[in-house]
Amino acid sequence: MQALIINGSARGSRGVTQRLAQALGQGLQDGGATTEQVLLKDLEIAPCLACLSCMHKHPGRCAQRDGMDEIYPRLQQADLLVLGAPVYTDNMPAKLKAVIDRCICAMLPFWEEGEAGRMRHPLAWPLPAQFVLLSVAGFPEPVTFEPLIATFRAQAYNFRSTPLAEFCIPGAIALQFEPAALEGHLAWLRQAGREIAQEGRPNPVTAARINRPPLSKDRCRELNLRYEDWCRKQQAKAGSKQGRAGFGRE
Ligand SMILES: Cc1cc2nc3c(=O)[nH]c(=O)nc-3n(C[C@H](O)[C@H](O)[C@H](O)COP(=O)(O)O)c2cc1C
Repeated sequence: MQALIINGSARGSRGVTQRLAQALGQGLQDGGATTEQVLLKDLEIAPCLACLSCMHKHPGRCAQRDGMDEIYPRLQQADLLVLGAPVYTDNMPAKLKAVIDRCICAMLPFWEEGEAGRMRHPLAWPLPAQFVLLSVAGFPEPVTFEPLIATFRAQAYNFRSTPLAEFCIPGAIALQFEPAALEGHLAWLRQAGREIAQEGRPNPVTAARINRPPLSKDRCRELNLRYEDWCRKQQAKAGSKQGRAGFGRE
């Protein structure tokens, strides 16, 4: 199995998404898969121009030349695509959405009805057959992930991929103040990676463990108070430099 892990966090290797991606990637490798990781932070990726020359002029080929030229060949070779998609304004980061939009060049102009009874395009070249969502969110409630999960499932349908798992871990701001609280989840993610590589999908028990929030809502609120305090201090510093008071609760 060849896995491609795309991390859409603007913080790249400094983010919580990357801790999760490393653990899942390690597990995939333990299970015998080959993995490649792409940090979108390091690539220039323009939005789709909607020129649609990929549909009417050069099937399968995007007209723009940028960081997508590193991603297209990897997508063509991968059996499994892991979307590392931290929640940004209730969905995936814009740069990751641009990657998905730019995959329109894998689609031919024709329509056909898929198994969900909805139209979709036949493919000019194969996209990864399997799809995994790996996400974190600042807020503590699992419901935060619902719009992203809906988008992820719709994309899997468009890509003709099987959505294998949605691993969604809330409370990411609090977790940065208490990083050890993620250790158990990292071990389960590693196990899920092994299971995907060896058995084709994660065990439902492993997936349920990963999706159990590592910190309670009350603990997240407590830890977020530390973040608020830190922000107030930064605001006060910035305010004194700029000759104006910081904003926020005093
Ligand atoms: C632009 C932006 C929008 C965000 N929107 C949300 C949101 O709608 N809901 C939420 O729970 N967290 C939101 N967050 C918090 C991130 O999900 C959280 O900081 C996460 O840790 C980011 O992933 P990373 O650590 O891998 O960079 C947002 C963060 C940013 C930068």
